[in-house]
Amino acid sequence: MTLATLYTICWIWIAVGVATFILLQFVTAPYGRHTKSGWGPQISNKAGWVLMEVPSFLIILYFYLSSDQSSFASMLSILWLVHYFNRTFIFPMRIRTKGKKMPFIIVASAIFFNLINAGLNGYYLARFETYSETAFSDWKFYLGITFFLTGFIINQISDHKLIHLRKPKETGYKIPKGFLFKYVSCPNLFGELLQWGGFAIMAWNLPALTFLVWTCANLIPRATKHHQWYKSQFSDYPAERKALFPWLF
Ligand SMILES: NC(=O)c1ccc[n+]([C@@H]2O[C@H](COP(=O)([O-])OP(=O)(O)OC[C@H]3O[C@@H](n4cnc5c(N)ncnc54)[C@H](OP(=O)(O)O)[C@@H]3O)[C@@H](O)[C@H]2O)c1
Repeated sequence: MTLATLYTICWIWIAVGVATFILLQFVTAPYGRHTKSGWGPQISNKAGWVLMEVPSFLIILYFYLSSDQSSFASMLSILWLVHYFNRTFIFPMRIRTKGKKMPFIIVASAIFFNLINAGLNGYYLARFETYSETAFSDWKFYLGITFFLTGFIINQISDHKLIHLRKPKETGYKIPKGFLFKYVSCPNLFGELLQWGGFAIMAWNLPALTFLVWTCANLIPRATKHHQWYKSQFSDYPAERKALFPWLF
């Protein structure tokens, strides 16, 4: 595949991401608190998470091991791998969702999403990257790595707090408090957005931007739906709390 072809696929995939963002204003992805029947066969929630996320880990690992990447591209691949190692193999073991299921169609669509996004990024880093050592002293690296690491920490702390709202065998929902929950309903999703924003700034290429567009397309509507759900379930839900971006939205 030539670079021009890769870019064409990216632009088409960005257009599909924007269409998905619009669609998700009207349709709520039926997993987690939004799970409902009528979406076909279901599988275990934990198994669903592993299956959904493993392509993203394996594809980047394959391209990383099978190519001779510069140190900067290797750093990008390793950051991606660390994130997806957690998401694929650690996060599903930590969540307290015993007995919960998710529709297989969600798993299948996430596998497809991850195949394309990881494929585009992995292929670019393996075949077309031209980073030099000076990339490590560029402002894009400093800003991007700050966003990425800050986002990763926010995501980890927030997911940890959410997971531990339930005692081991509980299944219900509670109002999260403390940390960035003081400002937003979904700091875990805010952290994830910050991470991939930072990744796109560091990488400064079209596949990384494409992935950021898709992350926004998934997480902004999800945060809106989570926020509306909290307000509908808890009459004492803090009125000043925003959905995703502190003080703004
Ligand atoms: N890159 C992407 O495009 C993308 C897309 C989706 C998700 N993600 C990431 O995947 C992770 C999970 O996403 P998510 O949307 O499933 O997060 P979530 O709805 O906030 O749930 C996270 C975990 O905490 C539990 N939980 C959440 N709120 C709770 C509450 N108020 N009381 C008790 N338990 C609560 C959930 O249980 P239940 O499952 O039972 O609700 C789940 O196990 C996040 O870190 C997110 O950033 C990334």
